[in-house]
Amino acid sequence: MSAGAKKKAAAQAALDYVESGGVIGVGTGSTAECFIDCLAKVKGKIDGAVASSEASAARLRERGIALLDLNQTGALPLYVDGADEATRHLHLLKGGGGALTREKIIAEASETFVCIADDSKLVETLGAFPLPLEVIPMASGLVGRALAALGAQPELRAGFTTDNGNIILDARNLKIEDPAEMERRLNCIPGVVTVGLFALRGADVLLLGGDDGVKTLR
Ligand code: A5P
Repeated sequence: MSAGAKKKAAAQAALDYVESGGVIGVGTGSTAECFIDCLAKVKGKIDGAVASSEASAARLRERGIALLDLNQTGALPLYVDGADEATRHLHLLKGGGGALTREKIIAEASETFVCIADDSKLVETLGAFPLPLEVIPMASGLVGRALAALGAQPELRAGFTTDNGNIILDARNLKIEDPAEMERRLNCIPGVVTVGLFALRGADVLLLGGDDGVKTLR
C-alpha cells in the first residue's frame, strides 16, 4: 500500500473520534489534508473547526467547513493532526510544515489529541527528522549557538516565514534521549517561540495506517 493510501486510512479512522455538535481542532500537512477531506463528508455533524495554519484554514473554507477562533470556542473536545515522527510512548516530533506553534496551542487546548500517520512515522527514538524550532528573527544567532552547544547542527529554513512572522531553525543530529526534558530545555532558550517536540503534551491516540489496516496505539 502506498504512503498516501496509508495516510488516507488513518485519516478516515480518525472520524470515529468526531462527536456530534463539537468544534474540531485540525492540524497541518498532507495527512491533515486527508482528514479535512474526510471531515467534509460529515460536516453537518460538527459546528466547525479551528485550524492550525492558514493553509489548513483555506482547505477547510474551500470544503464549506465553518472556521472558528480558538478564543471564542474555549477548550476543544478533539484535535486531529499528523506528525513527522512518533514513538510508542506517543511522543511526537512535528513542525515539518512549519505550523508547530499553532499546533501546540491547539493540542494544549484539546481534551483528546488524535495523531494520524502512515506507519513509516513510527520510530524508536525521535530526532532522525531535523527538529524544527520557531524562533523570533533577532534571536536566530543566539538560538543557533545554544543548539550547537547541545551537539546539533541548526539550519535556517531558507525562504520560509511562519504564519506568525517568525523563522524556523531545523536542528539536525540532536540526541533526544528524553523528549520531555529536551522540550523543557529548549523552551527555556530566549527567542524560542516553540519547539517541535510534543512530549509534555503528547498525543492521546496514535492511528497508524499500514499494510494490514490501521493500528491504534494509546
Ligand atoms: C506541520 O507543521 C507538521 O507538524 C505536520 O504535522 C507534519 O509535518 C506531518 O506532515 P505530513 O502529514 O505531511 O507528513
